[in-house]
Amino acid sequence: MNAFALNTPSSGASRHLLPIGEKKPAAALAPSSPRWGEGGSRSEPGEGVSISITAEQADDVVAREALLDRAMGPARKRRSSEKLRRGRRPAEGLAFVARGADGGIVGTVRLWDVTAGEGGPAALLLGPLAVDPSLKGAGIGSKLMRHAVAEARRLGHAAILLVGDAPYYGRFGFGADKTASLAMPGPYERDRFLALELRTGALDGAAGIVKASGRRTGQPPRFRAAA
Ligand SMILES: CC(C)(COP(=O)(O)OP(=O)(O)OC[C@H]1O[C@@H](n2cnc3c(N)ncnc32)[C@H](O)[C@@H]1OP(=O)(O)O)[C@@H](O)C(=O)NCCC(=O)NCCS
Repeated sequence: MNAFALNTPSSGASRHLLPIGEKKPAAALAPSSPRWGEGGSRSEPGEGVSISITAEQADDVVAREALLDRAMGPARKRRSSEKLRRGRRPAEGLAFVARGADGGIVGTVRLWDVTAGEGGPAALLLGPLAVDPSLKGAGIGSKLMRHAVAEARRLGHAAILLVGDAPYYGRFGFGADKTASLAMPGPYERDRFLALELRTGALDGAAGIVKASGRRTGQPPRFRAAA
């Protein structure tokens, strides 16, 4: 079992059914099915097709990893962000999948607890974000990003870091200005190291190398009472 397979999914997040928007639906999303979903949930009426964004479940791991391989290839596991994820669980309540009409996983995003620099503030690291290559440009990545940021904010997190393309993440408010004094623990391109403050000034004075601070994969969830 690899490190990803050991990740326990976040719990407690409700299902959110979201219309993809104005972009042309991809055929794999079965636009002819206006209603779908599990547990009595259903899609919202609107243009095009709908996806649902749900908390990742334990039995989503294999499909999520296959999607990541298709979308990003094996080199994804050599990224500096991976050093902050390996052997850790995602932040509580912050691992999401997007599901298509047949319930299959068409997108994934997770956030991870980190410390922003030496003795710095708690923050989240976002990634990987990926969408099934056959469904690119249908708005799924944007829906996942907006959902992830909104949930992080709702849960009281102060800032999100990521390494990614500024032209894409800029549309969600991410920029490189707040990471100037921070560093990732491995090779990365500085202009792709971005941050979004959910609380103004959260990253003021943050400097040094970002460190993993999330629960290790062997640890029980924090809300469980000690035996
Ligand atoms: C990047 C990714 C998540 C975007 O998801 P998506 O569902 O295709 O994107 P959306 O439909 O929400 O957004 C499409 C828009 O983003 C733009 N876009 C997509 N990828 C981009 C990139 N890398 N840089 C800049 N813009 C990008 C598109 O041109 C399009 O622009 P428009 O709205 O002006 O037409 C997806 O392409 C993917 O999985 N890529 C492979 C994995 C990856 O690179 N993940 C991110 C790591 S940095």
